[in-house]
Amino acid sequence: MGKNWFDLTGRVAVITGGTGLLGQQHAEAVAGAGGIPVLADIYVSKLDIHSPEFNRRFGSSASVVQVDITSPASVQSLLDTVLRKYGRVDILINNAANNPKMEKTSEVEFSRLENFPLEQWQADLSVGLTGAFLCSQVIGTEMAKRKSGVIVNVASDLAVIAPDQRLYRKPELPPDQQPVKPVTYSVVKTGLIGLTRYLATYWAEAGIRVNAISPGGVYNNQPDDFVARLSTLIPLGRMANLDEYQAAILFLCSDASSYMTGTNLVIDGGRSCW
Ligand SMILES: NC(=O)c1ccc[n+]([C@@H]2O[C@H](COP(=O)([O-])OP(=O)(O)OC[C@H]3O[C@@H](n4cnc5c(N)ncnc54)[C@H](O)[C@@H]3O)[C@@H](O)[C@H]2O)c1
Repeated sequence: MGKNWFDLTGRVAVITGGTGLLGQQHAEAVAGAGGIPVLADIYVSKLDIHSPEFNRRFGSSASVVQVDITSPASVQSLLDTVLRKYGRVDILINNAANNPKMEKTSEVEFSRLENFPLEQWQADLSVGLTGAFLCSQVIGTEMAKRKSGVIVNVASDLAVIAPDQRLYRKPELPPDQQPVKPVTYSVVKTGLIGLTRYLATYWAEAGIRVNAISPGGVYNNQPDDFVARLSTLIPLGRMANLDEYQAAILFLCSDASSYMTGTNLVIDGGRSCW
């Protein structure tokens, strides 16, 4: 038998936004390859670490750590906790972001550019971009000391294409009240690609590889008309299943991608090539 390129045995992976929808999937991918996921999130009560279900999905060594990635002190304390518990950190997945669901009407009030609140701009950038910067700064510096590590930034298909605002259109509303994907989402996700290239070159000699993944939308019980409209924009004709990014995350986190850094892996059912 040859080398198992995807093996993560004993490697510790910090996943921000780890208790969220995709964060849990990334954690399963890491655990499935023998790695140890640390699900780091501002909101931690969603998961019961003592349940058999938690153990089954994430492995007996996994942990959940509360962190506010917008705070340097909180990120430092996350790293301290991880090093105290495991003595090492090998992988950082910058996955946390404010993730507005424009297809659900309750969140659309201030989404339009003309009245987009400055506080919302700052809050979204603070989690999605500043948070990724701070986690990379604190955890990446530790990896650089050890001359080994992997950082994966979770961007979006909206890092490579503009949002198609027709997807969110509500015929009953006047033009100036139509919901749109907020400007911050495009800015944060595109910014992450820049951060990816910067860190990849900055830390190449320190043995840290840095890549981005750009997933397309995951089906999660969105309204039927939204799903139908979006699906017509996707050559594969459907949204992603929840677990369809696990293999890509494993690829990027493991030695399978050992000659890959500074790039963006787009997995979007073909949407951005149409
Ligand atoms: N779900 C999709 O269809 C999709 C598609 C493309 C990209 N993405 C990206 O994937 C990532 C995960 O998305 P998701 O669908 O799982 O969203 P989610 O909202 O379920 O998860 C985001 C997590 O980030 C956490 N978080 C927010 N602020 C934080 C802070 N200050 N400190 C620490 N944690 C914080 C939240 O508590 C939440 O658990 C996001 O970056 C999102 O933009 C998602």
